[in-house]
Amino acid sequence: MNRGPRLRVGGERVGVAERMSNEEQKPTDDPPSNEEVWSFPPWYNRVPPLVLGVIGPLATLMVIGVVWYYFSPKYTDVGYTPVQPVAYSHKLHAGDLGIDCRYCHVGAERGPHAGVPPTQTCMNCHHQIRTASAKLLPVRESWATGQPIEWVRVHKTPDYAYFQHDAHLRAGVGCESCHGRIDQMVEVAQDQPLQMSWCLDCHRNPEKFLRPRDQITVMGYSVPNQEQLGRELKEKHAVNPPLHCSGCHR
Ligand code: HEC
Ligand code: HEC
Ligand code: HEC
Ligand code: HEC
Ligand code: HEC
Repeated sequence: MNRGPRLRVGGERVGVAERMSNEEQKPTDDPPSNEEVWSFPPWYNRVPPLVLGVIGPLATLMVIGVVWYYFSPKYTDVGYTPVQPVAYSHKLHAGDLGIDCRYCHVGAERGPHAGVPPTQTCMNCHHQIRTASAKLLPVRESWATGQPIEWVRVHKTPDYAYFQHDAHLRAGVGCESCHGRIDQMVEVAQDQPLQMSWCLDCHRNPEKFLRPRDQITVMGYSVPNQEQLGRELKEKHAVNPPLHCSGCHR
């Protein structure tokens, strides 16, 4: 904190601006010699402290801001794959083992949030299976201490946009249409842009995506007559997605 001496000029504390204007007022009778032209002006001595003390921290703050802006989930896009605290694989559990999505994401059909399973759900099996696995150590620790596993959120719409899972699943939109082939992902990556235009593309033509309600968690779903089936289902379940602003901005 002892910056005093560097800022002292002739026993007085003066700011850079003040000091420079003092210099401008210097009598200019003598034309400057070459030597004077090439010498650094006295205020230059204060440049390093200025850089270190002011510009340095400012630049650091800007870098933090930019990183924050571009890497926080809100502003990330397709392909976003944060590192998770446990090497949990959807490909193994939902793909190879064929566990239904709703076994773990119990909230999806009940309300706005699909939810991430509590440690208890993992321990239903891992009490018996792979009990010595190092990869499962954080799960056993969480179970022993009661501290939830801190899964990192992947998908996020801004707070000013209203989204709920249950209405979509009731209408017969599959997880796959919005999250892609989760059963093939070792690590979950964002599959769709989640932008307003993406929501609206489907809301205008939902028949392209609708499937029977008992097929919503099926992965790799495809029928040859999708548009026709979609139109029938749209009629049958009176599906009518909002296009007006207040439908999603409430
Ligand atoms: C055995 C439990 C389990 C099953 C079964 C399961 N998941 Fe998950 N899911 C998790 C866990 C744990 C996470 C959080 C860690 C992660 O993102 O990998 C998660 C994360 C997700 C995410 C990302 C959530 C976010 O933060 O945005 C999506 C999307 C998802 N699951 C969809 C599915 C779908 C679709 C299925 C069925 C094909 C499925 N899951 C089956 C446990 C499960
Ligand atoms: C329905 C039973 C079941 C549930 C529920 C389940 N798992 Fe598994 N898990 C398995 C099986 C089976 C394996 C494969 C064991 C093998 O390869 O021998 C496995 C393997 C794993 C592995 C790899 C272990 C290793 O050493 O390679 C991890 C990590 C894992 N599970 C994490 C989780 C997490 C986290 C949850 C909860 C979100 C969970 N599991 C829920 C059955 C389950
Ligand atoms: C119509 C598109 C759509 C469908 C269908 C859909 N999701 Fe999502 N999902 C989203 C969006 C958008 C988000 C981000 C929501 C938010 O920020 O509130 C999300 C977030 C999630 C999350 C993490 C946050 C949360 O809500 O807990 C999980 C887990 C998830 N979805 C799983 C599923 C599963 C499992 C299914 C099928 C049973 C499914 N989703 C069907 C669009 C969809
Ligand atoms: C793949 C198709 C699809 C996508 C993508 C999709 N929706 Fe929908 N959405 C639907 C369908 C179908 C309905 C109609 C539900 C009904 O009429 O019962 C709906 C209904 C809604 C509703 C009204 C629910 C209610 O209870 O009235 C809201 C709000 C909504 N969607 C928001 C969103 C937002 C926000 C996004 C983007 C983040 C989105 N949707 C993406 C298909 C989709
Ligand atoms: C189907 C749902 C839906 C409808 C209908 C909808 N919006 Fe949006 N809107 C969203 C979502 C989701 C976002 C967030 C987009 C993102 O994160 O990129 C958004 C973002 C916005 C933004 C922020 C700027 C941007 O593009 O990110 C504005 C402004 C906006 N909407 C205005 C409107 C107006 C005006 C209408 C009516 C003409 C409307 N919205 C209708 C879902 C919707």
